[in-house]
Amino acid sequence: MVRIAPSILSADFVNLERDILEVSDADWLHVDVMDGHFVPNLTLGVPVVKRICEISPLPVDVHLMIEDPDTWAVRYADLGAGSVTFHFEAATNPRQVARDLRAAGVRASVAIKPGTPVERAIELLDEVDMVLVMTVEPGFGGQEFMADQMPKFEALRAAVDRAGADVWLQADGGVGRDTIATVVRAGADTLVAGSAVYGAHDRNAEVRSLRELASEALAEDSARRD
Ligand code: DX5
Ligand code: ZN
Repeated sequence: MVRIAPSILSADFVNLERDILEVSDADWLHVDVMDGHFVPNLTLGVPVVKRICEISPLPVDVHLMIEDPDTWAVRYADLGAGSVTFHFEAATNPRQVARDLRAAGVRASVAIKPGTPVERAIELLDEVDMVLVMTVEPGFGGQEFMADQMPKFEALRAAVDRAGADVWLQADGGVGRDTIATVVRAGADTLVAGSAVYGAHDRNAEVRSLRELASEALAEDSARRD
């Protein structure tokens, strides 16, 4: 089973409600919070995320690209999000951040940048509900997919299976029609797509196409293994 999470980073911020309602066939709504320090871009913060959670028909998947998630992550959990992802690189005590998120009643998720070894996420598998592997350098939409990150999904998938854990594996960055099969075959089951979805004329149709392409890739893969 694959999940599609359109990123509103590529939406029209002046018509955000309209653009959120246009992806209602997706599974999650991905909201990128950037602080201009952890990444060289600035998006939105607590008051806007709060309103998004209130009006979104989909559960909200907050991706925090901010410094000091030790203080801030739990504040986002209290806004009505379904899942909160923080960056391993930004946290002083990642284990504690994950615990605080779960205690606040949201799915806890840790993200790793392209330069961060996958072992840092594997060490936290018992504390999280999802691992986000960045397939671009965080900060901007519309960048090129980094296929060299695929071994991270393979390692994570093996570790999750070994542990018998129920941890989702999310890919974020450059996911679209041309890359979705690769990332799903590597082990990702939760796919963020920003420019691919919002660049399409019919956003919900694009969501369905991506889900179909991902499911086909998975089916082919399991047929090959049998
Ligand atoms: C980038 C963000 C992504 C971004 C992906 O730092 O975390 O969620 O919106 O955009 P695309 O899908 O266009 O690469
Ligand atoms: Zn993101």
